[in-house]
Amino acid sequence: MSTENEEMVVTPWEVSGKIDYEKLVREFGTQPITPDLLDSIRRNAGDLHPQLERQVFFSHRDLDWLLQKYESGEKFVLYTGRGPSGPVHIGHLAPWIFTKYLQDKFDAKLYFQITDDERYLYHDNFSMDEPKKWAYENALDLIALGFDSKKTRIVLDTKSIGTLYSLALTIAKHITFSTAKGVFGFQESTNIGLIFYPAIQAAPAFLESALVGHNVPCLIPAAIDQDPYWRVARDVAPKLGYYKPAQIHCRFVPGLGRGGKMSASLPETAIFTVDEPEVARKKITNAFTGGRATIEEQKQLGANPDVCSVFAYDYFLFMNSKEVEELRYNCRSGNIMCGECKQVLAERVMRFLSEHQEQREKAKDRFEEYMFDPKDA
Ligand code: TYM
Repeated sequence: MSTENEEMVVTPWEVSGKIDYEKLVREFGTQPITPDLLDSIRRNAGDLHPQLERQVFFSHRDLDWLLQKYESGEKFVLYTGRGPSGPVHIGHLAPWIFTKYLQDKFDAKLYFQITDDERYLYHDNFSMDEPKKWAYENALDLIALGFDSKKTRIVLDTKSIGTLYSLALTIAKHITFSTAKGVFGFQESTNIGLIFYPAIQAAPAFLESALVGHNVPCLIPAAIDQDPYWRVARDVAPKLGYYKPAQIHCRFVPGLGRGGKMSASLPETAIFTVDEPEVARKKITNAFTGGRATIEEQKQLGANPDVCSVFAYDYFLFMNSKEVEELRYNCRSGNIMCGECKQVLAERVMRFLSEHQEQREKAKDRFEEYMFDPKDA
């Protein structure tokens, strides 16, 4: 588990240490989301998603440009994805829930890439079947969130490679090994599949433009760990005559332990969408909070919501903005104890899981409706 003192690492394969988001904006060369940009989103979308109000989505590239294009009549496509190496946890859902808001508000088509190739190449102990199995399971979670089947296309890499490959080749031709090493930290010992892979993840950013034969703006909502791919994609875009893809980046939903993002490799501190609701309750009961050693002390001095994983869940996903501010106040002023807070969150998470799991079952009959079909191309 990462600690506050560890050096920050944010790559597509590892996130650890205390995350300094302002530093990431500087180092990655992205832009913070300003009040003006929020106004522009509100104007076009009709309202602001809570994840925008609370700066869960905090950084972007070219979102202002994309909205100007939209205002002048050019619709955009959305692109996001999943590396299928295990069950989906509710941290993964944060960018997907936001993507659904964008799809609804902007009537946007979504390409959702499932990178079974990436996960096969990355995990030493994976057979080809392992990520394929998870691809199906993870797609059910996406469908369960209610994406519009007419406007959503799941691009499963090994299945859709016939369409992706020519695009990936044109991209790969413009990325030198030296750039790939610099951006992704590849070593002499990295397998060459992984070295080519960034071209595959960049490809869907240009897929709509390639399919319709003219430039279509593309917006990628994801946590900021995926940013290296977009840096490369943006470099290559003008060389291929495409628009640079725009991004909007979110923070990491933390795990239920002390510090660190929610991660499938720490199952006790992650809530999976397939967890029995009672299992989720137990995990929340054991969660790290910002509470004091004794109830008396907490009543007198208050607790610290800024380090509390329970508060973080309410903040990221489970409370509206008014509730969050009330809770923050009550926590700081010692009006509420951690046990009570955990109970409120547990009830909400359990309700969410029951409903999500019901939708997930129904998604099993609808899987094919969402799959990208090269015949659409
Ligand atoms: P993967 O499977 O690691 O993550 C899927 C999505 O979840 C985001 N994410 C999180 N968001 C908030 N809190 C967390 N704790 C958290 N952990 C992960 C990731 O940023 C991602 O958006 N290579 C990709 C798959 C991919 C992709 C894409 C992702 C292919 N094309 C386009 C985003 C956009 C991967 O392995 O994601």
